[in-house]
Amino acid sequence: MNLPKNLSIRDGHLWIGRHDTVALAEKYGTPLYVTDEDRILENYRAYRVALEARYPKTRILYAAKANGNLAVLRALAEAGAGADVFSAGELYLALSAGMKPGDLLFNGSSKSPADLLLAVDKGVPVSVDSLDELRQLDRAAGSRKKTARIAFRVNPALEVPTHPKIATGLATSKFGIPHEQIPAAYEEALACRNIAPVGIHCHIGSQILAVEPFAQACEVMMRIASDITDRGVMLEFIDLGGGLGIPYHRSEGETAPSPEEYAGAVMPVFTKGIREAAISPELWIEPGRSLLADSTILLSRVNSLKSAHRTFANIDAGFNLLIRPVMYDSWHEVIAANKADRKGDFRYSIAGPICETGDVLAHDRMLPELSDGDLIALLDAGAYGFSMSSQYNSRPRCAEVLLKGNAEALMRREETLADLTAAMQTPPWQER
Ligand code: LLP
Repeated sequence: MNLPKNLSIRDGHLWIGRHDTVALAEKYGTPLYVTDEDRILENYRAYRVALEARYPKTRILYAAKANGNLAVLRALAEAGAGADVFSAGELYLALSAGMKPGDLLFNGSSKSPADLLLAVDKGVPVSVDSLDELRQLDRAAGSRKKTARIAFRVNPALEVPTHPKIATGLATSKFGIPHEQIPAAYEEALACRNIAPVGIHCHIGSQILAVEPFAQACEVMMRIASDITDRGVMLEFIDLGGGLGIPYHRSEGETAPSPEEYAGAVMPVFTKGIREAAISPELWIEPGRSLLADSTILLSRVNSLKSAHRTFANIDAGFNLLIRPVMYDSWHEVIAANKADRKGDFRYSIAGPICETGDVLAHDRMLPELSDGDLIALLDAGAYGFSMSSQYNSRPRCAEVLLKGNAEALMRREETLADLTAAMQTPPWQER
């Protein structure tokens, strides 16, 4: 299998960075998310190097939705990243991690009045998703005697090769303003008293394993950038969104474009565009998955085995902790972490403990013969893994451990049964 660079097999065990997964599972219990900070930073630096070699004024806004743990955000903040935040919660986390308001972009297709005021009060630029939102933001900024810096979210109407649920720039998607309406939107923004249109933003989708769609989106964006510059907009940034995919199908030798290939395809379009428009804005991108996914594994123990119409390995993590296979039919490689050097002669479906037929995290995988107590590792779980977890079936969420070199520490403790009721209230008529 084409393992991520930070995973290795030693003496029959799966290791992540300098750590034996079997020892981590014994120490912290399972299920357990294990994240390698060094890998995140390596992924981040690969983008920085590739982009800055071609254009120095670039900024990476980590898509905080991929993994919102403060320790992850802090590591990226220290490395110089900003963040794409999609809610007041993500904005709060990014600021708490030490990111500066001007290094964030408040995205979202349905922001509340409170969200808009928060952006104004904190001085966070806003990606505006509709003209209605623009007018509301103008009023919100006016009420605080401030100017809101904005970009419009462009819907470039591009078909992209990914799962339909995560293609975000289709003409039919809920995101953004149709590209043909964008020039008029900037005209209106220029006329607003409390709005400074300083950027332009798009995002075409996630888990895209080709660079051409990004280059195509960049073409659309550069055409619009030139048009709105002629109308008097002073562009400070062009934000091309996130989206490089990762090779989840490692056992089949799948590969994904590198940041270098991304930059090689997109940057010539970008630099030609800004030269022709005679502008020099910053280039922003918003990767999430490609920074986080391969930094993390989910460790889970086999509770029991069952031979039925197929053989199930029932493990202690289900879609409460990793919903991607169930929601998008996503593939995560499975390794028997304590038998990692044995051949996969047996076929198992890896089922979680949730009371739903669909709670199967991996179907028909070839693994060594398993017994109860064996340790299962689900790979590439760092993006949209823990961040999409829930307490469904009243299961407290598991712990997250962060690794850095030889060091390891909890970055989130396991939730307790008391956490299940922590936010619940007793209605007065039930009090005794
Ligand atoms: N920027 C915006 C505006 C986005 O909507 C997203 C992802 C990103 C950046 C980051 O994209 P990335 O670099 O991670 O591809 N839960 C789904 C993925 C949803 C992505 C939504 N937007 C999954 O587990 O596959």
